Amino acid sequence: MIRRFTGIVLLTLAAGLAFAADRVAKPVIAIDKPGRCVEDTALMRRDHMKLLMHQRDRTMREGVRTKPHSLAGCVDCHASTKTGSVLGPQGFCQSCHDYASVRLDCFECHAAKRGMAAALGAKR
Ligand code: HEC
Ligand code: HEC
Ligand code: HEC
Repeated sequence: MIRRFTGIVLLTLAAGLAFAADRVAKPVIAIDKPGRCVEDTALMRRDHMKLLMHQRDRTMREGVRTKPHSLAGCVDCHASTKTGSVLGPQGFCQSCHDYASVRLDCFECHAAKRGMAAALGAKR
């Protein structure tokens, strides 16, 4: 029931974005994998960077690798089913960051594709 409802909301959102696209370039917030985010959507929209930074500090300093706010987890859910990636012009993370003029260095080390190792550095 909740899944179905989310699906309808997202379809509506997607249609709205597609409609607006010929006037202004809007971010593509397509979520291929239905379900729920690790936190409330409004909070994620506002504070996802803080969650990720905090998680990184904890992993690097204390060796904590918990699931909830892991970057690999974000990628697993948010990678496109077409490209398998969160990057690219239609990619979940990149499209919104392009729109907001935000630049990240995270994916120079971290895999942007679903199902890959968390960070390349860890495998070398
Ligand atoms: C220079 C390489 C490098 C860059 C750039 C980098 N990281 Fe990492 N990151 C690592 C390594 C190495 C680990 C530890 C590997 C592991 O835990 O699997 C790690 C671990 C993490 C973790 C915990 C493990 C996980 O998958 O959640 C998070 C979260 C994280 N980084 C977030 C970020 C974010 C956000 C950025 C960009 C702002 C970033 N990292 C940029 C190398 C990097
Ligand atoms: C279990 C799958 C899953 C995981 C893991 C996940 N998300 Fe999400 N995320 C979703 C879904 C589904 C939505 C939209 C549904 C909703 O309204 O809650 C969403 C929404 C979002 C949004 C808001 C998009 C908008 O509409 O403005 C952001 C930003 C976001 N996620 C970032 C992240 C980040 C960063 C991580 C990792 C720390 C992450 N997500 C982990 C499934 C996930
Ligand atoms: C709905 C739009 C949106 C989506 C989707 C989104 N972001 Fe962001 N992100 C932003 C905005 C806006 C900022 C800048 C916020 C600020 O500067 O206060 C940001 C900043 C960040 C930062 C901090 C960058 C820095 O160096 O300060 C990280 C890390 C980040 N996002 C990771 C992600 C990841 C990983 C994903 C995909 C899982 C993602 N974001 C998806 C809008 C988004």
